[in-house]
Amino acid sequence: MPKKYKISVLPGDGIGKEVIPEAVRVMHAAKDAAGGIDIEDITFDCGGEYYEREGREWSEEGERFTKGEADAILFGAVGALDSAGEPVKLPDGKHAGYNIVIGLRLTLELYANTRPVKLYEGVPTPLGEKTHEDIDMVIVRENTEGLYVPARGILAEGSEGEMAVDLRLISRKGAARVIDYSFRLAETRKGAPSDGKKRVTCVDKSNLLAGCQLFRKVFRETAARYPKIEPDYAYVDAWALWSLMRPEFYDVVVAPNMFGDIITDLGGGIQGGLGMAPSGNIGDKHAMFEPVHGSAPDIEGQNKANPIASILSVAMMYDWLGTKNKDRHSLAAADLVKEAVASVLREGKTRTPDICRRQWKDVTPSSTGTVTDAVLKSLEKIGGER
Ligand code: NAI
Ligand code: MG
Repeated sequence: MPKKYKISVLPGDGIGKEVIPEAVRVMHAAKDAAGGIDIEDITFDCGGEYYEREGREWSEEGERFTKGEADAILFGAVGALDSAGEPVKLPDGKHAGYNIVIGLRLTLELYANTRPVKLYEGVPTPLGEKTHEDIDMVIVRENTEGLYVPARGILAEGSEGEMAVDLRLISRKGAARVIDYSFRLAETRKGAPSDGKKRVTCVDKSNLLAGCQLFRKVFRETAARYPKIEPDYAYVDAWALWSLMRPEFYDVVVAPNMFGDIITDLGGGIQGGLGMAPSGNIGDKHAMFEPVHGSAPDIEGQNKANPIASILSVAMMYDWLGTKNKDRHSLAAADLVKEAVASVLREGKTRTPDICRRQWKDVTPSSTGTVTDAVLKSLEKIGGER
């Protein structure tokens, strides 16, 4: 009997609704090519546009299936604009969709936001002197606490003395679980491109901030349990520089929530743009996979959004399901997706406009669906050769 996985598919708003259906096509093709697995996927409409229409962010059925039944979640992005061009908001001022993306991260304890920063061969990077051989790291962002804990407020609103405060909460337990995850992840990788050493870099501001001092203390304690992995330390400001100057030194990088948020967009830049950046929000029991990008209203409806970030998120999903369930078929599906994407990019002919730069500037840009077609064709070929 093939192992069956239930997947909740949440395209959301804007280009989420364009790229996620493409990723779903690849999800099914990879399952068919790998064999031995079955997928039951249900798509639920959700996000800002849904909220404007229905007065809630997603259906009760969608919420129940996603939180209670799904083995994994595939999510696009939320964030819609109203007719006046303003973000659609909830009565409490949060952007509509907040309770899905941030809510799921918190309620399902998806504490490790895992963002691979890999430059595929054939993708332009703004770091002109670096190649795909130099850029292959994973940034792990703490995903449940730090500055994003909703402990904030405004004092003396509207007056001369108006003040705002955001509390940054970092706990030993919260730091320990994401740091341990990062070391376990490093164990499975090939090491840093520059020297092949398995390395975990702790990125913080522990010269100043108490939360970062706790984060680093826990990092040191954890590192002692992984003697085969080199612990490395950087202050976040310096790391921003080093990530551009010597990305090849980095293997796994772990950071508290907000620093992780910022440096992963930097990572998205050096790997060719947000259209290339997949991610997984990973916990012990649940996981949600999503492109790093948002709903991109500037390119919505033009059929030119790059589907690769979402397609690579499907590969991460199969990797996670395969590891968690000791299922070699799912791991094979993950490899097939990654190889098919790598082959299309290496070949260079089929690409959305965001990656038609540098030596690829004269390539005629392809549409979202045409890029997916090329990935599917490549997947079929690779699957057939196995
Ligand atoms: P964005 O990621 O949507 O777009 C930033 C830039 O990257 C834009 O110029 C866009 O065209 C480009 N881009 C993004 N994805 C691309 C793709 N697949 N292919 C080609 N180009 C791509 O970020 P922005 O503009 O700051 O936010 C737009 C909306 O998305 C906002 O409502 C924001 O709150 C929301 N958002 C939602 C996220 C989520 O649901 N996880 C994450 C980030 C933003
Ligand atoms: Mg971000």
